[in-house]
Amino acid sequence: MPNALRDDVYRRPLATALDRLAVAPGWRCVDVGAGGGDVSVALAEIVGHEGRVYAVDSDPRARDEVASAAATFSQVLAITQAGEDLLLPEAVDLAFCRFLLMHVVDPAVVLYRMRQAVRPGGWVVAQEPITSAGRVGGVALSMPRARHPDIGALLPALVRDAGLDIVDAWAEAPAGVGPGPVTEYLGSLTDVDPGDDPVVLPPLVTVLGRVPDHLEGDR
Ligand SMILES: C[S@@+](CC[C@H](N)C(=O)[O-])C[C@H]1O[C@@H](n2cnc3c(N)ncnc32)[C@H](O)[C@@H]1O
Repeated sequence: MPNALRDDVYRRPLATALDRLAVAPGWRCVDVGAGGGDVSVALAEIVGHEGRVYAVDSDPRARDEVASAAATFSQVLAITQAGEDLLLPEAVDLAFCRFLLMHVVDPAVVLYRMRQAVRPGGWVVAQEPITSAGRVGGVALSMPRARHPDIGALLPALVRDAGLDIVDAWAEAPAGVGPGPVTEYLGSLTDVDPGDDPVVLPPLVTVLGRVPDHLEGDR
C-alpha cells in the first residue's frame, strides 16, 4: 500500500481530527496499526520533542518503515505488538487508529485495549472507512480483502460500547474525476481504472471518544 499516496488523499480527515482534538506539544500518544507511520509522523510534528508517540504495529516490518519515516523524530518509538495486547510503559493522552479496525478479528477488543492505555480524561480516536459507500461512476465499491470493510458505519456504537464518551463523530470522503491522486489511490486499492468516471473514495468515519474522568470497575 503506498502510504504517501494514502496520506495525500486522506490527509484532510486526519488534519480535521487533530485540530478538533487540539493535540498539543508534550502529549503522549499511541498510533495503533501504525503501518508506514503517516499518522505517527503527523502526531510527532505536533507533540514535539517533549512529547512521545508510540507507533505500534503487529507486523515487525512496520518498525523499519516507521523508523525511516520518523528518522528525524526522536519522540517516535516503534513497537511490534498486536493491538489486542496493547501495553505501554505509561498512560497516554491519546490512542489513535486509522484503517486498522477494518483488518482485526475483533475490533471491540482492540478498542477496549486502546481505552485501557489512555489516562482518565484522555482520548481514543478511530478513523475507519465505509468501503461500500465509495462510488466509481455511481456504482458501489467493494473491498473483499478486508475483514470488516464497512466498519466505519458501526464505529460510533463500537466506541460507545468500549466505555467511551463520544464527543464528536463525522465522515469525510475524498472525491475527483480524471487523472490525479484520487484515481491513483483507487487503482492501488482495487485495480479499478475509472477512466473518465467520477470517483468518490470510501468515506472515513472519525469518532472522538473520551475516557471518563472517573472509570468504574475495570481500571
Ligand atoms: C492499512 S494499514 C494502516 C496504516 C496506518 N494506520 C495508516 O493509516 O496509514 C493497517 C496496519 O495495521 C496493522 N495491523 C493489522 N492487524 C493488526 C493488529 N491486530 N494489531 C496491530 N496492528 C495491526 C497492519 O500490519 C498494517 O500495518
